[in-house]
Amino acid sequence: MKGDIGVIGLAVMGQNLILNMNDHGYKVVAHNRTTEKVDEFLQGPAKGTNIVGAYSLQELVDKLESPRKIMLMVRAGDVVDSFIDKLVPLLDKGDIIIDGGNTNFPDTNRRVATLKEKGIHFIGSGVSGGEEGARFGPSIMPGGSPEAWPFVKPIFQAISAKTENNEPCCDWVGNDGAGHFVKMVHNGIEYGDMQLITEAYQFMKDGLGMTHDEMQSVFIEWNKTELNSYLVEITSDILGYKDTDGEPLVEKILDTAGQKGTGKWTGINALDMGIPLTLITESVFARCLSSLKDQRVEAEELFGKKESIVEGDKQVWIEALRQALLASKIISYAQGFMLMREASNENGWDLNYGNVALMWRGGCIIRSAFLSNIRDAYDIDPELSFLGSDSYFKGILENSMSAWRKVAAKSMEVGIPMPSMTSALTFLDGYTTARLPANLLQAQRDYFGAHTYERVDKPKGEFFHTNWTGKGGDVSSTTYNS
Ligand code: 6PG
Repeated sequence: MKGDIGVIGLAVMGQNLILNMNDHGYKVVAHNRTTEKVDEFLQGPAKGTNIVGAYSLQELVDKLESPRKIMLMVRAGDVVDSFIDKLVPLLDKGDIIIDGGNTNFPDTNRRVATLKEKGIHFIGSGVSGGEEGARFGPSIMPGGSPEAWPFVKPIFQAISAKTENNEPCCDWVGNDGAGHFVKMVHNGIEYGDMQLITEAYQFMKDGLGMTHDEMQSVFIEWNKTELNSYLVEITSDILGYKDTDGEPLVEKILDTAGQKGTGKWTGINALDMGIPLTLITESVFARCLSSLKDQRVEAEELFGKKESIVEGDKQVWIEALRQALLASKIISYAQGFMLMREASNENGWDLNYGNVALMWRGGCIIRSAFLSNIRDAYDIDPELSFLGSDSYFKGILENSMSAWRKVAAKSMEVGIPMPSMTSALTFLDGYTTARLPANLLQAQRDYFGAHTYERVDKPKGEFFHTNWTGKGGDVSSTTYNS
């Protein structure tokens, strides 16, 4: 009997996905560039299963049922192209290559198009959930050649996480790089969620002077509220974790955050598309700022250490902080969904936002109860342009407003950096202001560069130039918006 699917790449994600597929009754053929890894896998975790090994790409191809489905679980970038180049001559028309790495979506757009010319179908799929997710149920976000989906769907939906109603956290996302795009936004939101949690932690630790055990209890309580999520849950575990000397391990970790690029891509894409994705982008910058450790140490000496004490009833502050975190999180998701809407319109992907929320409901790093409410919001209005306008989320934003402002103002007053929580509030203030000061900005542009402006008392699209100084000419520069 031939194999149902081949997987290339036996690093941690690849191995766990294969074992997961095997658990669901699929025969998997496993290959790795360094072939010793194949033996190690077969004699180790795959021992006693139906998994078979392949020591060359030819052997892999020969051992697979047609149309062949070959999933690459290798490092994103050139390695993917190199495997594709080697596989294509060995494949038949109608065969399917799947890239399950964290690939930047323009690469997937390109690969879908070039492989189409060769009659090979290509799927670029986000896979989220880390090691444990891959083994027992990840969130899977596939997009690319739609012809390939019916062949891959049963396997992917079988191995994916399921919601409490047993719906698979995996569905077809859209054409081209839509799957990898949605995974990129997932990661951007992951950056935002993590940053928001760290801001709450710093407020509690430095502002309220709380111990790690107290903070752990707060996160345990928060996890029973609308904030219920994997990231809040692991934060409570982390805060309670003691090093061998009995002290909290988290305080021994160097405060410089790493990043592999998906958050940055999300920010770059938002700038390219003109979407104010402020919270996620602030979260990326917060990681960049954290990495300037030596400079920060010097600057603290230069400016003096801040006394960031927050006075007042601790319990009241903790509840205010919870509300500020929840409201900010709503803004982050609202911005993320705005970005997806714009990308969907620009690329003709026809994204289904309710389905995206469903795919993120389980298995992935940002999984949370909250995503069910997002799904409900898009069920009510599939074209919802701003998540905060949905009555459930609008209610939370309105109820948390005063606590949110209090926390933001206090953080500014005592000098606790909270770039994501404060930028979320600033965004909402801007978004809910019918008249912003951009009129003055337009006047400045016209003043120094004759860039022209539109008038409130004239139809849109009609441009005016004023000779503000009486000097210079009346010639205006061309009008265009990037
Ligand atoms: C996931 C994660 C996964 C990975 C991130 C980490 O969905 O399972 O997002 O993709 O953990 O890429 O990203 P950084 O190293 O950039 O924090």
